[in-house]
Order: sequence, then structure tokens, then C-alpha cells
Amino acid sequence: MKFWLLTIWVVSAASYVVNENTTCTLYPESLTHNGEPVDDSPSIHQAFDLCGTNGTVIFSQNTFHINSVLNTTNLLNCDVELRGELRFSTNIPYWRSHAYNVVLQNQSTAWLFWGTNVTLRGEDGGWYNGNGQAWYTQNRNGANEPGRPISITFYKSTNLLTDGLTIIQSQFWATFVWASKNVSIINFFVNATSDNQWDTTNTDGYDSWNSNMLLVENATITNGDDCIAAKGNTTNLLVKNVTCHGSNGMTIGSVGQYPTMPDYDINITFEDVKFLNCADGAYIKTWQGVPETDDSNGDAGGGGSGLIKNITFKNFEMTNAGLPIQISQCIYTEASNKYCNTSKMQIEDVTWANITGTSRYNIAASIYCSALHPCPNITFDNVKLTSVNRTLGLPNYGTTIQHEVFQCANIIGQDGSGIPCNHVAPNNFSQGVSGNIKN
Ligand SMILES: *[C@@H]1O[C@H](CO)[C@@H](O)[C@H](O)[C@H]1NC(C)=O
Ligand SMILES: *[C@@H]1O[C@H](CO)[C@@H](O)[C@H](O)[C@H]1NC(C)=O
Ligand SMILES: *[C@@H]1O[C@H](CO)[C@@H](O)[C@H](O)[C@H]1NC(C)=O
Ligand SMILES: *[C@@H]1O[C@H](CO)[C@@H](O)[C@H](O)[C@H]1NC(C)=O
Ligand SMILES: *[C@@H]1O[C@H](CO)[C@@H](O)[C@H](O)[C@H]1NC(C)=O
Ligand SMILES: *[C@@H]1O[C@H](CO)[C@@H](O)[C@H](O)[C@H]1NC(C)=O
Ligand SMILES: *[C@@H]1O[C@H](CO)[C@@H](O)[C@H](O)[C@H]1NC(C)=O
Ligand SMILES: *[C@@H]1O[C@H](CO)[C@@H](O)[C@H](O)[C@H]1NC(C)=O
Ligand SMILES: *[C@@H]1O[C@H](CO)[C@@H](O)[C@H](O)[C@H]1NC(C)=O
Ligand SMILES: *[C@@H]1O[C@H](CO)[C@@H](O)[C@H](O)[C@H]1NC(C)=O
Ligand SMILES: *[C@@H]1O[C@H](CO)[C@@H](O)[C@H](O)[C@H]1NC(C)=O
Ligand SMILES: *[C@@H]1O[C@H](CO)[C@@H](O)[C@H](O)[C@H]1NC(C)=O
Repeated sequence: MKFWLLTIWVVSAASYVVNENTTCTLYPESLTHNGEPVDDSPSIHQAFDLCGTNGTVIFSQNTFHINSVLNTTNLLNCDVELRGELRFSTNIPYWRSHAYNVVLQNQSTAWLFWGTNVTLRGEDGGWYNGNGQAWYTQNRNGANEPGRPISITFYKSTNLLTDGLTIIQSQFWATFVWASKNVSIINFFVNATSDNQWDTTNTDGYDSWNSNMLLVENATITNGDDCIAAKGNTTNLLVKNVTCHGSNGMTIGSVGQYPTMPDYDINITFEDVKFLNCADGAYIKTWQGVPETDDSNGDAGGGGSGLIKNITFKNFEMTNAGLPIQISQCIYTEASNKYCNTSKMQIEDVTWANITGTSRYNIAASIYCSALHPCPNITFDNVKLTSVNRTLGLPNYGTTIQHEVFQCANIIGQDGSGIPCNHVAPNNFSQGVSGNIKN
């Protein structure tokens, strides 16, 4: 019986991979199953096995049902064309128990994609549909949730280009680049938008970790968490021409979570960025220096060391940014007023240049470096932000502070930094600002 089922599976899968020379064209099982959402993952694996080396894999212009995890591995000189829709199932218990672990924060992914000299192109309107609404609704604005899968993870890859990738309603983070080198994501579109009262928390557009030589260019990202986040050991990343709607903005971090694994984030530039209604902005966030067991973010940590160096944020146009510019070295303990001077992460050589537009409240910047590692060479050059109210000729309500606040602490050479510090940064300042600075 078992053997018989296996035979049918191979035959039926085979009929939906049309293989000619080194090109495999995929057709969905639903075409011969009266439209039933039969899982296409087995045929997809078969296509990658047949054409993943020196070949081309084409998802034809149809709807593919992805009901089980994808592990497309060891690709070499392979071009992938996504012309149809990849519709991920909403079987939440299945994904939570089968998504592949990606180590960082014990997160998981629905699709592990790796190879050398690989392209993944969205063509003819092809797209990835994470069906994320089911995830947003059941998560109820909760923290990181074990097994809630990253849409696609590029792992152990060298020379990988994705061009024209569209990810709609990502289940969790849309993309994650891990242990890779020379990965470019260009002409990239993400939209995670909830249609009910529950937010799209944790739908980061792009996160990188332990990766070098990275590019993100020409992207439009709509989501409810970091637009782009450079997590630990991200080096030589250029982010250029990105528009972020909603979201938490452009982030270095969070880093410093693991005492035994130092993080080095070096040579990172974000340029030509537009923010529309972002909660945060252009910022750097590290864990505190004392490990905490508090797992209110779905994960505990802190105590990690390392270096954040040579970071540039330039040409940002912000509209209604909640907290436009920030350094916090205690992002998960600041609200409880704990450990903000303990971080073991050194931050230096950071420039914000040509940052213009409007802030939601009367605050432009909060720079709080750890007293244990004050920050040298932090520079502002042409940072011009005005609260939305003041641009409308209205007062900042509920406060006597009618100018932009730039609050500072533990900045080495503050006077020559170009930061118009006019306030002492308090050590319990939360990244979620929800009103004007009152005093
Ligand atoms: C497959 O190879 C044959 C012989 O080289 C060639 O005639 C044919 O056009 C190729 N088909 C495709 C789809 O490239
Ligand atoms: C793939 O192409 C490379 C370079 O052209 C060649 O060396 C290698 O043998 C090919 N591998 C296979 C499995 O065809
Ligand atoms: C993915 O496939 C590769 C190659 O077959 C295998 O070595 C690896 O263990 C698989 N990964 C997971 C997480 O199953
Ligand atoms: C990948 O492409 C580069 C540049 O074309 C080439 O030098 C290298 O040999 C390729 N790698 C493999 C493993 O085929
Ligand atoms: C994102 O999707 C929502 C809901 O479908 C839509 O209202 C919004 O216009 C989309 N955003 C962009 C930038 O396309
Ligand atoms: C970005 O978009 C512009 C305008 O469409 C285009 O000229 C440029 O080539 C794109 N960049 C990349 C890396 O594709
Ligand atoms: C920036 O990227 C958008 C796509 O997000 C593209 O439409 C636009 O042409 C690009 N602009 C430039 C100057 O490359
Ligand atoms: C970052 O890289 C260093 C080696 O350069 C390594 O020791 C450390 O464990 C890495 N950190 C993380 C978080 O992987
Ligand atoms: C940073 O960039 C400089 C200049 O290109 C380079 O010499 C250095 O090796 C880079 N650092 C890292 C960690 O990649
Ligand atoms: C800083 O990083 C940029 C890339 O973001 C690089 O071009 C530059 O050379 C680096 N500067 C130093 C001093 O390493
Ligand atoms: C400053 O940023 C704005 C908006 O991003 C841009 O239009 C302008 O060209 C930039 N100016 C310089 C001097 O780079
Ligand atoms: C300060 O930072 C800027 C920009 O990151 C860099 O070019 C410069 O070399 C740094 N200066 C010192 C003294 O470290």
C-alpha cells in the first residue's frame, strides 16, 4: 500500500515538472485535481533536483499551493523565474511544527533557499503570497512566536541576485539573508497589511545576519516592523532607494543579544530613503549588557559585546516619523529604567546626513550611548526635522516645548558632533514614542 502511494506520487509530481534539456517548467497539481489545493512542494523539490545545477526552474503563470516546507538547496548556476503565485497554506499548527530553524533567536522559515551563482526573478507579475492575515490575526499583536515562519531565507549563498521579487502578506519577516556573501535584492516589493484590528507585528521586510557584501536597491516595503534590519555580523551592506510605509524604519540591530557571540556590524550605508508614517526611523538598537531572562519579546538575552562602526544614514525624507533618529543601548529594558549604561557594544563612526521632513511629535533624535562605552564620532550633517504640528502652524499640545528636541547622553565630542543637543537623554526612554516630550 505504501509503495503504491509512493509510485502515484512520483508519477503525478513528474507530470507537473516539464523537463526539457536543462529547463524545468512547473505546473500546479490543482490543474489536474479539479482545482483542489494539492500540495505543490514535492514537484517543486523535484524541479530543483533536476534543474538546480546549470539549469532554469520556471514557475509557470499559475497558482501554486505550498502546503509544506520548501528546502531548495545546493543550487549552482541556476536561474529561477517566478511567473505565478506561490500561495502558502494557513495551516498554522503545521508550519509551527515544521518550519526550518534558522538559529537566530530560534526563528524559523517556510522556505530555505541556497546556492551559488543563482538568480531568482519575479516576472509577469509573479508573487509570493504568504497568506499572512491568518498569522496576524492569531498572533494578536504578540511578540516573536516560535515557529511563525520567515517567508524566504537565503542561506549559505554566494552570488545570489533576486530581481523583482514581490512578497505579499508575509507570514513573519519577508526575507532573511543568513551566512551568505554577495547577495543583491533589487526591485523588491513587500506589502504586509492587516485587514482587521490586529497589527502586522514582526513582518520585517529584510533582515541580514552573519553576511557580507549585500545590496538592497529599489524597494517599496509596507509592513508593521523593521523595514530593513542589519542584525549581527552584517558587513558591507548598501541600502539604496527604498520607500517604507508604516514600519519601524531602517535599523542596525538588535545586536548584543548573546554573551558568547559578539556582533560586528561594519560599513553599512542607507541612502535615498523615504519614510511615510514610520513609528521609528534611522536608528541603532542594542541589548543591555546584563543578560535578562525577561522574554516579553518572545526571547531573552543581552550581555553580548561587539562593534558597530562606520554607519551612514543619508538622504532620508521623512513624513510623520514617530522617533526619527535614535541610538538606544537597552531596547528591551529601557522602559523599566534598567541597565542602559551597561551595554558591551561599542558604537562609533555614525553619520546622519541630509535627513529632512517631519516628526510626529516634538522629538527629532534620542541618542543614548552606554556609559560603559560612550560613542565617539557621531555626526549630524544637515538634519532638519520639524514636528507635523509646527509645519501646520499648530502648537505641540500638552507641553511647553515648542521646538524640536535633540536629546543626548554619553556622546564623546558632543560639541563638535553637529548634533544640536538641547536635552539630556533619559535612560528610560522607550523606542515606542506616543506623545510629545513634556519636560
Ligand atoms: C533542447 O536541446 C535541443 C537540442 O540541442 C534543442 O534543439 C532544443 O531547442 C532545446 N530545447 C530548449 C527548450 O532549449
Ligand atoms: C555545470 O557547469 C560547470 C561550468 O560550466 C561545469 O564545470 C559542471 O560540470 C556543470 N555541472 C553539471 C552537473 O552539469
Ligand atoms: C535541506 O536539504 C539539504 C540537502 O538535501 C539537507 O542537507 C538539509 O539537511 C536540509 N535542511 C533541512 C533543514 O531539512
Ligand atoms: C560563479 O560565477 C563566477 C563568476 O561568473 C565564477 O567565477 C565561479 O566559478 C562560479 N562558481 C561556481 C561554483 O561555478
Ligand atoms: C498594501 O496593501 C493594502 C491592502 O491591500 C493596500 O491598501 C495598500 O495600498 C498597499 N500598499 C501599497 C504600497 O501598494
Ligand atoms: C532602480 O530603478 C531605476 C529606475 O527604474 C533603474 O534605472 C535602475 O536600474 C534600478 N536599479 C537596479 C539595481 O535595478
Ligand atoms: C526607486 O525604486 C522604485 C521602486 O521601489 C522605482 O520605481 C524608482 O524608479 C526608483 N528610483 C530610482 C531613482 O532609481
Ligand atoms: C560574529 O562573527 C564572529 C567572528 O567574526 C563570531 O565570533 C561571532 O560568533 C559572530 N556572531 C554571531 C552572533 O553569530
Ligand atoms: C570596511 O570598508 C573598508 C573600505 O572599503 C575595508 O577596508 C574594510 O575591510 C571593511 N571592513 C569590513 C569589516 O568589511
Ligand atoms: C565605510 O563604509 C562604506 C560603505 O558603506 C565604505 O565605502 C567606506 O570605505 C567605509 N569607510 C571606512 C573608513 O572603512
Ligand atoms: C538631500 O535629500 C533629499 C531627499 O532625499 C534629496 O532630494 C537631495 O538631493 C539630497 N541632497 C543632497 C545634497 O544630497
Ligand atoms: C568619523 O566617521 C566618519 C564617517 O563614518 C569617517 O569618515 C571618519 O574617518 C571618522 N573619523 C574618525 C576620527 O574616526
